[in-house]
Amino acid sequence: MTSNSLKDSDLYYIDLKSNDPLDLYTEWHSEAKKFSKGFTNIICLSTVSRDCCPRSRHVFLQSYDENGFVFYTDSRGRKVQEIAANNHGSACVYWIFTNDKCEHIMKQVRIEGTIEYLPRNEVEKVYNAQPLYAKIRAHLCHQDTVVNWDELKKHHDVLLEQAKIDDSFLQMPEHYIGCRLIPTWMDFYASKNKSIADRMEFDKNEDGINWIHRRLAA
Ligand SMILES: Cc1cc2nc3c(=O)[nH]c(=O)nc-3n(C[C@H](O)[C@H](O)[C@H](O)COP(=O)(O)O)c2cc1C
Repeated sequence: MTSNSLKDSDLYYIDLKSNDPLDLYTEWHSEAKKFSKGFTNIICLSTVSRDCCPRSRHVFLQSYDENGFVFYTDSRGRKVQEIAANNHGSACVYWIFTNDKCEHIMKQVRIEGTIEYLPRNEVEKVYNAQPLYAKIRAHLCHQDTVVNWDELKKHHDVLLEQAKIDDSFLQMPEHYIGCRLIPTWMDFYASKNKSIADRMEFDKNEDGINWIHRRLAA
């Protein structure tokens, strides 16, 4: 075997520095923010319909901490109807970038758990800090309903003109809600260049506080 062919395959190693998956998420997210050219805070969120059909869509991950992964949405939309019927959810995030060592890195994090709604005062703080277009959207769009584009545009322009004079009518509507995916399982997958991926799976312990981890085959 030549030394060149040795480089044609390798096994990636996830270097775990703590038993807490949040630490690994933060480390990977920071690295992605540093090197990735795209958004790094978008998750693909999956819920399950009443008749057990899975449904996925991307949402912005507003924040995360030891309590869970937070996103905002319209309570009248389909995903919230699904969450109300079955509060189990799963999310997936994918980061791809070239780091400062010219290594092509691919990382995936999968998160599974239950989804709960955030208290209104917490949601209001985030809503109030939103840019104008996001507040207008919250008032203009009834998520998942059929629309006539011309009428929607006309309505949009009226709201925009009103907001330029006085935007106090754009206070947070009832249907603007925040949700938190509280993880009970997380799975990290990473590879670079011609390496075979490494994986690390975390399960929440029965005590509901600590995590158990295992290395898994890719
Ligand atoms: C990059 C991206 C970010 C999005 N962020 C959100 C979000 O934060 N909240 C949201 O309700 N919809 C967001 N959407 C729209 C959703 O993907 C989806 O179309 C919408 O929420 C309706 O989904 P539902 O019918 O399953 O309820 C985003 C779409 C994209 C492409």
